[in-house]
Amino acid sequence: SAMADPGKPLAHLTPNVGWMNDPNGLFFDNETSMWHAYYQYNPNDNIWGLPLYWGHASSEDLVTWNDHGIALEPENDESGAFSGSIVIDFNNTSGLFDNTCLPGQRIVALYTEHSEAGERQYAAYSLDGGYTFNYYKHNPVLDINSTQFRDPKVFWHEETERWVMTLALSQEYKIQIYTSKNLTSWEFQSNFSHHGVLGYQYECPGLSKIPIVHTTSSNLTQSAGLTTNNGFADYKWVMFLSINPGAPHGGSYNEYFIGDFDGKRFTAQDAATRAVDCGKDFYAMQTFSNAPNGEVLAMAWASNWDYSGYVPTRDWRSSMTVVRNLTLRYYSPNPETSELTLYNQPVFKSSGLNTKQRLIKKSLKLNSNESAIFNVADGAHGLLEFTLEWKVNSSAVTTGHDMADLSLKIKGVEDDSEYLRLGYVVSAAAFFLDRGNSRVNFVHANPFFGNKVSKNLEPYESAEDGLPIYNVQGLIDRNLIELFFNDGSSSSTNLFFLSSENYLGEFEVSTGVDNVFTILNFDVQQLSV
Ligand code: FRU
Repeated sequence: SAMADPGKPLAHLTPNVGWMNDPNGLFFDNETSMWHAYYQYNPNDNIWGLPLYWGHASSEDLVTWNDHGIALEPENDESGAFSGSIVIDFNNTSGLFDNTCLPGQRIVALYTEHSEAGERQYAAYSLDGGYTFNYYKHNPVLDINSTQFRDPKVFWHEETERWVMTLALSQEYKIQIYTSKNLTSWEFQSNFSHHGVLGYQYECPGLSKIPIVHTTSSNLTQSAGLTTNNGFADYKWVMFLSINPGAPHGGSYNEYFIGDFDGKRFTAQDAATRAVDCGKDFYAMQTFSNAPNGEVLAMAWASNWDYSGYVPTRDWRSSMTVVRNLTLRYYSPNPETSELTLYNQPVFKSSGLNTKQRLIKKSLKLNSNESAIFNVADGAHGLLEFTLEWKVNSSAVTTGHDMADLSLKIKGVEDDSEYLRLGYVVSAAAFFLDRGNSRVNFVHANPFFGNKVSKNLEPYESAEDGLPIYNVQGLIDRNLIELFFNDGSSSSTNLFFLSSENYLGEFEVSTGVDNVFTILNFDVQQLSV
């Protein structure tokens, strides 16, 4: 169609031209303090297709990204350099480096070379900080004669002094674990199989040591202070897994398992399957290698294979999520059933973004005949952050006949018939997001896009009067909204599309019932990069 692109997100990794899917090879270069991200890239079209490359971008602040184009190439036009990871070979275990290469820049990529002949694991290494790569002479480094064997994620396991690789034997529902002393010869150790939602296939597994943070504080940016000793006293191993198609809410999603790892075998602590993010657009999450202070930072592809090739952008397709800091916390909606839960919090706040406009409202009692409007539309360009914290006077909800909802409409500045609606419904104890009133012809034409998502929401804390308080932080960047509930105990990442030149900027808070909701804090900012 002749439709113009919606504006490209400002603070999310997005290719200038072409198709992008999974994040690959994420790492921090401690020699230059630069973050690097690679991605599945088709520069020749705005849909997935072969030949498929690794694109490359770098960032100083994990918020704004510089694109460097193609970094890794497939072997030929009918093949693909599929997903994989990068490690820093500080001690030159691979023998691929000499002393001219700084230890922190001994960069080795392990990825899947995909062709009709099969999926085989290749190595490549960079001598210039990750901008260009040399292909290992004796590829493949791992080949089991399979066409469904991919997405190696590698890390250094200190306790056993080995490299560990997880990868998917996709349609057998196996995550395989291999180990190596030198990154080029790999020994099979174990399978972690038939766990979680199976879907059609397993993709992009990853195993990480996630710090356990003991806290009762509600300070969003506390994590940095906990890492003084270059590591955390307490942790658990977490296996991440991507499923596509066949996610419970349709298409793609990311799940995780908490457990233990002895260097060879991962053992889940229980039979539970947990979702990393409960939105429609969060897939193939990968953690960064070599992140400072033992922190675990990760990023995912903000789309869903059910409709990623149809969304109404033209020159580029897809963005990554914001980078998120992952921790485990004892989350206790009910103090007797406190369980370790994966928290994810945006690394967005700490960045050097400028506030163009900010509106703050504390303590606002909402009644059904009034709404509060917060307009940050001036020169709107679509980068917004908001926090909404509310108290439910639950004793007031007695009949069950009225849908006691708190509603936040976020409207387009040029055309307010396009909007997002989100909010909380007391009787359902759940938060909802309805993206069905964005670019309506796309929403209606696509059978998978799915207008509504929801998430059960537990109280964040209790007010002095014992009534429950809830909290959500939202990031909106042109066509992507990321919601973080209760300090990141859950999140919901979703695309939406407005007509071109129409950006969200007017917030309207309202309710259908009297005396139920008090807004304790509403804080909205328009930001610029
Ligand atoms: C996941 C995935 C991976 C594969 C890559 C190909 O989205 O299917 O399994 O390596 O994308 O682009």
